Amino acid sequence: MEQLSSLQTFLCFLFFIFTIFISLIFFFRLKFFCKCDVCTCYLTSSWSKHFNNLCDWYTHLLKNSPNSTIHIHLLNNIITANPSNVEYILKTKFDNFPKGKMFSMILGDFLGQGIFNVDGELWKFQKKMASLELNTVSLRYYAFEIAANEINNRLVPLLQLAADKKDFSMDLQDVFRRFTFDNICRFTFGLDPGCLKLSLPMSNFAVAFDLASKLSAERALLPSPYIWKIKRWFNIGSEKKLKDAIKLINVLADEIIRQRRSMMDYDNNHDLLSRFMTTVNNDKYLRDIIISFILAGRDTVASALTCFFWILAKYPNVESAILDESDHVMGPSQYVASFEQLHEMNYLQAALYESMRLYPPVQFDSKFAQERDILPDGTLVKRGTRVTYHPYAMGRMEEIWGSDCLEFKPERWLKNRLFSPVNAYKYPVFQAGIRVCIGKEMALLEMKSVVVALIRQFKMAPAEPNTGIRFAPGLTAALIGGHRVIVKERKKGK
Ligand code: HEM
Repeated sequence: MEQLSSLQTFLCFLFFIFTIFISLIFFFRLKFFCKCDVCTCYLTSSWSKHFNNLCDWYTHLLKNSPNSTIHIHLLNNIITANPSNVEYILKTKFDNFPKGKMFSMILGDFLGQGIFNVDGELWKFQKKMASLELNTVSLRYYAFEIAANEINNRLVPLLQLAADKKDFSMDLQDVFRRFTFDNICRFTFGLDPGCLKLSLPMSNFAVAFDLASKLSAERALLPSPYIWKIKRWFNIGSEKKLKDAIKLINVLADEIIRQRRSMMDYDNNHDLLSRFMTTVNNDKYLRDIIISFILAGRDTVASALTCFFWILAKYPNVESAILDESDHVMGPSQYVASFEQLHEMNYLQAALYESMRLYPPVQFDSKFAQERDILPDGTLVKRGTRVTYHPYAMGRMEEIWGSDCLEFKPERWLKNRLFSPVNAYKYPVFQAGIRVCIGKEMALLEMKSVVVALIRQFKMAPAEPNTGIRFAPGLTAALIGGHRVIVKERKKGK
């Protein structure tokens, strides 16, 4: 035992020296490579004196760039908010801008060969299979029923409990993350982790899932991939935690897949796993497909809902207009809208699109150029360069949205009171083109159901009204400190 612990100490020491060595190489390489203002500002983090979030600084730079494109040389990263470039990357030259090996390495241990993490034939197969399923009305209806059930039996009772306690504040971000985790697990696996039960229990699966996505995303923040690779090899620190979290996820996923196979009646189940089982025999591959779906469909929806309620609190006129529309469609006494009623709510859809314009759940998304290329705005892209399109900045560009681009105005999405979408490359919130999000319609249904049910029954006021918004680093936009609100019951007609 003693020998083992001294070996571990020695390995940690070696690793410590190695990390310092790599960081120094990185630092000096940067120092010698680029001293332009932008790179210096990035390296010294001096942007944080003027901006709350990195995405706000990038937005500032992109607004001031004549072609809405910038180059962070030291990261070998071209960032664009130019819709013509976005169309070029996501559609015209799609094959030259895959996600690339770097991305799939970082998320590989967690996501394996799931749709979110692969390119080429593996991606094509899953995309085709998943699109066929997700576009069926029966699956959308199934997803709607799961959400309606979770709203009626868990979300509303939880908020009612908060409303009954005078001046009690609750974190909506935490509530929505629990809500969406229950939903997406029931939809994909047919498993109910029960995260939103009144006692707000900790589910081992949810904790392991959160940890695995957080630690995988943190790999991307290190100065060199060798750091996490060596840690993984020695099985120490964050890499050990990641390995343990993934192990727990795998045990659970394997057990569910095994049980489902032994039931032999998966043809009669509606969840995604059962549907995919009819075409995929490899259980490891099934696990990967499902885990990607949970990642794609959970935090995105929670983020969109949190930011929606954050901004809605500042625009009571928008809240009144949503209430009026829902009264008109549903009548005064119903709280949870039906599948058909939700489709009639054009103003609500516009309000959700507008909120995601300003606060997209995926703030930026990167590809890697396979070959040298030239973007439509004339930017030269060398082979291997990371090319990022930036929905957060794009939602704030005057060229795209006009001089009122910073205002929250659902009306900009309406023509004759009907929802009217814009060109997808101007609004790549769900990505666009060939790899566009396949859960978009499902996500919108889920979000609309929640908004209608909550604002018809409750009033929610921010617990700390004047705070700005600060995002935590990660794959999806999450608010540091969450969004605490004081919940009150809404009296009829108010
Ligand atoms: C507001 C909610 C959502 C937003 C903003 C959103 C956004 C996105 C974005 C930006 C991508 C591209 C990511 C990339 O390639 O790097 C994507 C892909 C994807 N999304 Fe969503 N998503 C949402 C909800 C959902 C839901 C609920 C599901 C599942 C039921 C889902 C399933 C997927 C899948 C499977 C992909 C991968 C598509 C592919 O690679 O071809 N999404 N989504």
